[in-house]
Formats: sequence, C-alpha cells, structure tokens
Amino acid sequence: MSISEEMYLHYHGLIVPKETHSYESLEFAQGFKFEDDDVLAVTYPKSGTIWMQEILPLVLNGGDLTPIHTIPNWERVPWLEEKQLARVVDKLASPRALVSHFPYNLMPPSFCTSKAKVIYVMRNPKDIMVSSYYFHQMAGFLEDPGTFDEFMDKFLEGKGQRSHMHKRRHARKSIFASSITIVVGSVTGQPMSASFAVMFGKWTDHMKSWRNSELGDRIMYITYEEMAQDLPAALRRISDFLGCNLTEEVIQKVAEHCSFKSMQNNNMSNFSLIPKVYMDHDKSPFLRKGNAGDWKNHFSSEQLTRFTSVISKELEGESFSLPWSL
Ligand code: A3P
Repeated sequence: MSISEEMYLHYHGLIVPKETHSYESLEFAQGFKFEDDDVLAVTYPKSGTIWMQEILPLVLNGGDLTPIHTIPNWERVPWLEEKQLARVVDKLASPRALVSHFPYNLMPPSFCTSKAKVIYVMRNPKDIMVSSYYFHQMAGFLEDPGTFDEFMDKFLEGKGQRSHMHKRRHARKSIFASSITIVVGSVTGQPMSASFAVMFGKWTDHMKSWRNSELGDRIMYITYEEMAQDLPAALRRISDFLGCNLTEEVIQKVAEHCSFKSMQNNNMSNFSLIPKVYMDHDKSPFLRKGNAGDWKNHFSSEQLTRFTSVISKELEGESFSLPWSL
C-alpha cells in the first residue's frame, strides 16, 4: 500500500501533509507570479524556516516590529506551497517575503524568469533529523516517528517504510485556516494502514537541487549554524544581499528580536495559537532547543557511521562541498 491517502498528498514525487497542503495550493504555487523584488527563503524542513519568517520582515522594514508582533508567522511570510497563501497574498506588503520547502525543480516558471532573490538556509542534516524526530511527535498532522533508530532509516530513505498504527484524526478545516477560528476535527484514534512519509523527500536531493541551481547573484547560501553562532554577522550578510543597508543599531535590534528566547515568547511566532490537536507543545515545543549539535546527544557511534556513509555516498561527485563535516 502507498502512503496514506488520508494524511498525505503526492505531488511530483514529493509527499506533503494534507492538513497544510492541497492540490489547489500546490497548483496555486505553480501559477504564482513572482515580482522582481520578492524575497524567498528556501529550506528543507527543520532547517530554520520560522527563524527566517522572523528575520525577513524585520530586515526588509528597517527593524519595524509591527509585523512580528501583530501577524502570525504563517501569514506574515507565508509558505509558497501551503493553503494559506491564496488567502493572504493580497495582504502582503511589498517587498513581499515568502518561504518554501520546494526543491528547485518545482519552482514556478515565473520564479525562473523574475529577479526575485533567494536565501537558501542549510542546516547540518544530523540536527535536522533530530529536530524532525521531535516534530513528528508533536505535530498531529504527521505520523508517529517510531524509535529514533527507525526514524533514521526513514529519514535517510527520504520516503520511509510501511508503518502500522497511526495516532491521528481527521480535521474538517485546515490547521492554518484562520489564526483565530480553527475548527478542530474529530479524533478517531483508528489504526490506519499507511506508509511513513518524510516530507519533501530526501535531504540530499533538496540540497543538490538548490546547490546546483546556478542562480548566480540571485541566491545566497547561509547556514543555521552561522546564524546560531553570530546572528548579527548573519543579519549583516542578509541585509547586504537584499540591499537593505541597515545600521548597526538596527542590526542589533533585529538580532535581539530574532533570538531563540524572544521567539519563544512571541505568540505570533511560537505556534501557541495553533490548537493542541495540531501541535502539542507539551510533547515537544516547536521552538525546542535552538542550538547546533544536539545530534551529539542522540546519535550512537553506529548510527553516526550509518548516517555518514549514506549521506556521503549520495553526495559523491557533487561539485559543492558541505559547510560542516559529516
Ligand atoms: P530544534 O528542534 O533543533 O530546536 P523550521 O522552522 O524549519 O521547522 O526549523 C525549526 C528549528 O529551528 C527548531 O530546531 C527550532 O528550535 C529552530 N529555531 C527556530 N527559531 C530559532 C532561533 N531564533 N534560534 C535558534 N533556533 C531556532
């Protein structure tokens, strides 16, 4: 049997949760008209997407705090491929900022012909896997990850194995249908026969697609680790890339408001507006640890060898090098 039809959509070889995506939203993304001054942050899931949803409006608006304090992150800097974009697109102020998990090959035609800039955020895949493992536990619209060891196989495969029992329920309305009036669906607790899905496929495929995109000076690569180590320096790079010329005073202000602690305390950014049935922060907060290297607390030496050998093999022959040692 293929991946559960109830929970996931298949789209050009990718698997995405139905709670947040629909065929209409994916097609809306394909028809989306990029403007030359649009800014897009692209990430493989769990690489720092919501961090960019905080950073971009502040950098683009000279440090004005209004958007991050009044608009939930998913409306403020919406996902290109998710359901809420169609609902909020006309409210987006110019220059518009968006995020996406699409691999490069799924970018809409208008993106390729526009001059829109892209920031591709990379994160050590071992930390992505750890973050994703906890996310699968807390997100009601994703499957239970099983043990850490089982999840590693699924993550490395990029699609996953057949799984047996599933925790989940059917919702009548999308998770982000509105930041206030979300209709919570019934919890059936029924076992569903399904296969496990890793959203957006293999990390290595995602990396390869964007690292080989040849977008020249339209694309900037940055790492989560770089942002975690010295956020003001990372913000200077982002500001220069976007031509924002922020003063040092504004850089420091933006860094303060984009710190892990500030975002944890910002209800517009910490997903506390989302009902528990969709995101259960008691199981694991969305803003969980916020540091680089948590994999060291999770990987056994055998798992490290397995992980490293699969990833290295898949990247063999690529002309780009990784910013971390595996
Ligand atoms: P952890 O689970 O390792 O804590 P995404 O937004 O792509 O889903 O990524 C989520 C990851 O980014 C989580 O990692 C989250 O804590 C981390 N993150 C988000 N904002 C952050 C910030 N301001 N500083 C450090 N990490 C942040």
